[in-house]
Amino acid sequence: MQYRELPAFPTDFFWGGSTSAYQVEGAVEEDGKGRSVIDANNEGRADRTGYTVASDHYHRYAEDIALMAEIGFRAYRFSIAWTRIIPDGDGEINPLGVAHYHAVIDELLAHGIEPIVTMYHFDLPQALAEKGGWSNRATADAFVRYAEVLYREYGDKVRWWLTINEQNMMILHGTALGVSATDSGDAKRDLYQQNHHMFLAQSRAMALCHRLLPEAKIGPAPNIAFVYPASSRPEDVVAADDWNAVRNWLYTDLAVHGRYNSLAWAYLVERGWEPTIEPGDLADLASARPDFVAFNYYATQTVAASTGTDADLAARPGDQQMVRGEVGLYRATQNPNLPTNAFGWEIDPVGFRTTFRALWDRYRLPLLVTENGLGAFDTPEEDGSIRDDYRIDYLQRHLEQMRLALADGVEVLGYCPWSAIDLISTHQGASKRYGFIYVDRGDDDVRTLARTRKKSSYWYADVIATRGRTLDAVASTDA
Ligand code: BG6
Repeated sequence: MQYRELPAFPTDFFWGGSTSAYQVEGAVEEDGKGRSVIDANNEGRADRTGYTVASDHYHRYAEDIALMAEIGFRAYRFSIAWTRIIPDGDGEINPLGVAHYHAVIDELLAHGIEPIVTMYHFDLPQALAEKGGWSNRATADAFVRYAEVLYREYGDKVRWWLTINEQNMMILHGTALGVSATDSGDAKRDLYQQNHHMFLAQSRAMALCHRLLPEAKIGPAPNIAFVYPASSRPEDVVAADDWNAVRNWLYTDLAVHGRYNSLAWAYLVERGWEPTIEPGDLADLASARPDFVAFNYYATQTVAASTGTDADLAARPGDQQMVRGEVGLYRATQNPNLPTNAFGWEIDPVGFRTTFRALWDRYRLPLLVTENGLGAFDTPEEDGSIRDDYRIDYLQRHLEQMRLALADGVEVLGYCPWSAIDLISTHQGASKRYGFIYVDRGDDDVRTLARTRKKSSYWYADVIATRGRTLDAVASTDA
């Protein structure tokens, strides 16, 4: 649909940016922090400073928040490291870790920036992993206890909570993201059992939040990539529907409606991967009611009907945004209508609008964008400035589509792109950058860690100050 005029963004819109603890903080052995699975996985790496120092946000958070305020951020989405609060996951509370996040939150509030807290972003306590990780139902209990500590500590300051970042990516790309297979001999079934325990943890944490903090808002934060059929062949359309169910709607249906998506369940049963559900689990799942759905969007995916052979599989397995293919479910394809970035990820701003519409149609809950952005090798000019016009172009085109989604009637709470400041990529180290603020460091070279605002931060400041009116130069069409 085309519109003659587009609405301005709401006055209380959460313009902001995102980070996660292990990718930005560093200080992995300070102030009583326990080891996380990420720390354990990285212990032998040559470029270990990516994790031990990262962007040194742990020490420089005040400087970073001042820069965010300068840009005009109204919100900052960051994660709390479970291992700083409860170093072994379910034992003693660490007062220094608790104090650190009080200081961060106070600093944000002093600058008029709303804290949006992710409770768990890939960094499970290693001590829990050693007891079976998410395969062990007790990890769900430990998560709920951790959530309760957070609510009691920060509940009078933090109104916006996110449970688990990208549970779907942890299940579909587990080993890269800190979820490990156990040795039961059926790794996939195990993963879906872990998935079930995460769902339980999430639902119970949401119900508890509403009980303890009636004013607070809480929601899930999956990675949603709307799936297109490769052609109008009916079989391709069915394959796209199937993959949408298994990749996307399994996670959002469970979080919102408290029940398994029936197509995804049929897929699990067909493969013998359906989890064991204990008495009481379904009631627990059904008891949670998120106040909004947050989602991370990088691109859509495009699939065709399965050929039933290995020809379904992509040539290289790739990472979270790459279409992989699965025999008997869908064949991986590349969308010929979309460009890709330097890392092979497709770029699809219009798919952003489609994803908004699909989520809104399914749930009628307000939507919050917790990630979206362009990873690139930014190179400073001789004068030290960083002219990331390619990032401006990417973000601008996504914002235009978000505005069209608003015109379509979708309720959008805010936009927190990845990332507020440069940090360590999950797959490519420090040199793949996303931030509005440049951090002077290399993959295995810590350098000065000095901060410099990139050109994109000045562009974003204008967008925020004008509530998106600077995007008006662009025609109000969906062409
Ligand atoms: C999201 C994650 O999946 O994508 C982030 O929540 C991650 O943690 C981001 O950094 C971008 O991925 P990558 O691999 O480019 O860092």
